[in-house]
Amino acid sequence: MTSEPNRVATMDKIVALSKRRGFVFPGSEMYGGLANTWDFGPLGAELRNNIKQLWWRTFVQRRRDMLGQDAGILMNPKVWEASGHVVNFTDPLVDCKTCKSRFRADHLLEDKLHIADAAAKTPEEMSAILREANLACPVCGNRTLTDARKFNMMFTTTIGPVSESGTSVYLRPETAQGIFVQYKNVLNTQRVKVPFGVGQIGKAFRNEITPGNFIFRLLEFEQMEIEYFCKPGEAAETFEQWLANMKAWVELIGLNPEHVRVREHAKEELSHYSDRTVDFEYLFPGTLGWKELYGLANRTDFDLRQHQEHSGEDLTYFDQAENTRYLPYVIEPTFGVDRTMLVLLVDAYDEEETVDVNGKSDIRTVLRLDPKLAPFKAAVLPLAKKPELTGVAKELFETLQIETNAMIDYDETANIGKRYRRQDEIGTPFCITVDFDTLEDGAVTVRDRDSMEQQRMPMTEVAAYVNKHIR
Ligand code: GAP
Repeated sequence: MTSEPNRVATMDKIVALSKRRGFVFPGSEMYGGLANTWDFGPLGAELRNNIKQLWWRTFVQRRRDMLGQDAGILMNPKVWEASGHVVNFTDPLVDCKTCKSRFRADHLLEDKLHIADAAAKTPEEMSAILREANLACPVCGNRTLTDARKFNMMFTTTIGPVSESGTSVYLRPETAQGIFVQYKNVLNTQRVKVPFGVGQIGKAFRNEITPGNFIFRLLEFEQMEIEYFCKPGEAAETFEQWLANMKAWVELIGLNPEHVRVREHAKEELSHYSDRTVDFEYLFPGTLGWKELYGLANRTDFDLRQHQEHSGEDLTYFDQAENTRYLPYVIEPTFGVDRTMLVLLVDAYDEEETVDVNGKSDIRTVLRLDPKLAPFKAAVLPLAKKPELTGVAKELFETLQIETNAMIDYDETANIGKRYRRQDEIGTPFCITVDFDTLEDGAVTVRDRDSMEQQRMPMTEVAAYVNKHIR
């Protein structure tokens, strides 16, 4: 199923707004860019920080059974041998012999031949289907596609001067392994008992054959991952608890529940480490349709067992209460920062017809972001650029910065209508206008982004009002 036909947001509109307002810029644009790389502008950086802070607060700081850590991107290459990534972290790749374009075989099967469970097939099965269909290259039209072959998605780099024999290392393709290799140190230095979890936020890198759809599939992206260590016999129940926690997160960030579904992986589709996986899928606009937003996997004791065997370190846990020793099972809820940002923009995007006092109608674009996540929590706007107004407005701006401990905008350019529209478009929940009456009565007008309703309140009450709505 693809998206509803009457959805206001399209990917093109989101890309345009992101550039226009400073959420996302094309990477190295002044040098012609670098395909599928993006930089996050001032508002994008704020939105991402808000997402990450809320996640960290929710899953790490507010739970007694959780701790945080921050491992490096570069690790001993043996980590990736043990984890199975060197052998198994591959995509099925097809080349066109004529135009040299590259495709993911499973995507060709899904998009061109409408085969639903293509990712579950082996490269040999995919090749047989492609040969049988005699599929033309989607780029040049020639029927010169190769068979599917495995392509490892890990980026490599070299430590030390390349002229001498430097050590080849991988850029981590998931943050998870940093948690597994530090599991014993966490256990030995913190007062934790199974069940407990470790959360981590950080960059991951994948040499994707078909990146694209804006920031949906990137080469360099950021993950927020939890590895939750539990008794083997309690893994199924723990999985259900994390499923519920992830559903609560989706609600917390304000996504439309009709745009999110949970999909169980078929056995053949499971990653090399997983016993059970569910994907949280989001209904993207246009042809992209339902695609993975987050994942939840039961990694069993696969990773700890592999690292124990490859490193020779004993990674078993001694359960004092039961006087037994075992390798904990691991439940892994995993969240992409970039996909969270993308779905928040898509879900929040709205266009609304407005009619002004003269009866003139117009369309306003508004980002109905949850105030917790909005880049700016409020904007202070002097009605006119007159020193008596700007002086008071700047003072109010300073006070709000301090008393809300949040990003507040200040804008004295253009007419007030245009300034409201600008704040609507970047999702600022409140606009606070300082006018000539303020000089007499010490009150300001607070305009609500969603309803556009305005209310007068004493300047001294504004910080408390904003604080009440942004947490
Ligand atoms: N540790 C498990 C793991 O990495 P995954 O499903 O491959 O699982 C987890 O990735 C999450 O990371 C995804 O649900 C998605 O949000 C994000 N993600 C994965 N690949 C991505 C890419 N190429 N670009 C952007 N986000 C990506």
